[in-house]
Amino acid sequence: MTGEMIGALELAGIAHAAAMAAIHRAAFPPNEAWGTDAFALQLALPGVFGWLDRRGGMILARVAADEAEVLTLAVAPEARRQGVGTRLLGAAMSLGGSRGAQTAFLEVSDANGAARALYRRAGFIPTGRRPRYYADGTDALVLRRTLILAAPSIDL
Ligand SMILES: CC(C)(COP(=O)(O)OP(=O)(O)OC[C@H]1O[C@@H](n2cnc3c(N)ncnc32)[C@H](O)[C@@H]1OP(=O)(O)O)[C@@H](O)C(=O)NCCC(=O)NCCS
Repeated sequence: MTGEMIGALELAGIAHAAAMAAIHRAAFPPNEAWGTDAFALQLALPGVFGWLDRRGGMILARVAADEAEVLTLAVAPEARRQGVGTRLLGAAMSLGGSRGAQTAFLEVSDANGAARALYRRAGFIPTGRRPRYYADGTDALVLRRTLILAAPSIDL
């Protein structure tokens, strides 16, 4: 251990909007990338929060009542397959749970094999399909995961 905070996650505020947009731009095609203003507007909304991983990842999520929703998740190409996305998703689910969410939802393109594999490994299961939801004509899958921990078993 060097004592450095390697891979530390930062809870994102509006001041991080530009950094989040830069990662999003690196991860998504130009017509799907969100700009700095979009992140700043989202982060100002009630219930919205983000995590930033300085290795090159970000997640934006929202809690409303007892539901959490992943709004967007992006990892820059050079930072992929190192667990960054999984860690960001875990941090968002754990903060969502601590803010009262019992269930998490998200939408993912049927054609996005990488994201679908990540979400499956994180315990999300398909619960619906929105046909031709995306501009390129692909379907969106709606995925769901419970955030409630199982009650501890009690030996009587
Ligand atoms: C999807 C994305 C966020 C994954 O980020 P990541 O940091 O590479 O993900 P992880 O390293 O945590 O991967 C976790 C697991 O997901 C699966 N996975 C991730 N990328 C994959 C790929 N390209 N192909 C197949 N499986 C993949 C693997 O099971 C992986 O575990 P492994 O590396 O031990 O095999 C990233 O590829 C990305 O930003 N893509 C473009 C934007 C996007 O699609 N965002 C999600 C929209 S809903």
